[in-house]
Amino acid sequence: MPLSRLSLIAATLTTALLASTSSQADVDKAIEYRQDALGVMAWQIGPLGDMAQGKIDYDAETFARRAENLAAVAPLPWEGFVEGSLRGDDHGVDTDALADIAEDWEDFESRQQTLIEETATLAELARGDDFAAMRRQVATVADTCKGCHDNYRAE
Ligand code: HEC
Repeated sequence: MPLSRLSLIAATLTTALLASTSSQADVDKAIEYRQDALGVMAWQIGPLGDMAQGKIDYDAETFARRAENLAAVAPLPWEGFVEGSLRGDDHGVDTDALADIAEDWEDFESRQQTLIEETATLAELARGDDFAAMRRQVATVADTCKGCHDNYRAE
C-alpha cells in the first residue's frame, strides 16, 4: 500500500477517535450540568422545608423568593439526561442515575412534568397568605422529588 494511502487511513482514524472523545466529553458535561442543576434545586428547597417544618421562622418574602427560584429551576436539569449518560454507560463521571431511566423514559418524563407543575403551584401559593396551604405544597413537592429518587436514583 502506498504511504500516502496509509497516512490517509491514519488521519481518518485519528479523526474518528477525536470525534468519539469529544462526544464522551459532551456526555460528561451533561451529567455534571444536571447534577449541578439538581443541587440548585436542593439549595432552594432547603429553607422552604425548614420553614414548613417550623425549624426556622416563616418569612413571607424569603419563602416567596425561594419558591420562585425553585419553580424557575425545576424545568432545567432534565436536558442533562442525554443518551449514554446513565449508570453502566461508558462515560467518565460518577452518576447515581439508574439505567431504568432509559427503559421507563415516559414515566421519568412525566415525573419531571409533575415537578414543574407542583413547584409552579407552590410559587403561586407563596404569593398569597395561606401558609397552611404552602406547607402542604412543600410536602407535595418533596414527595415528588422523593418518588423519582426512589425509582431512578441509586442509594
Ligand atoms: C424525574 C426524576 C427526579 C425528580 C423529580 C427529582 N430528582 Fe433529584 N435526582 C434524580 C436523579 C436521576 C438523580 C441522579 C443524577 C446523577 O447522579 O446523575 C438525582 C440527583 C439529585 C441530587 C444529587 C445531585 C448530585 O450532585 O449528584 C440532588 C441534590 C437532587 N437530586 C435533588 C432533588 C430535589 C431537591 C428534587 C425536588 C425538588 C429532585 N431532586 C427531584 C431524579 C429526580
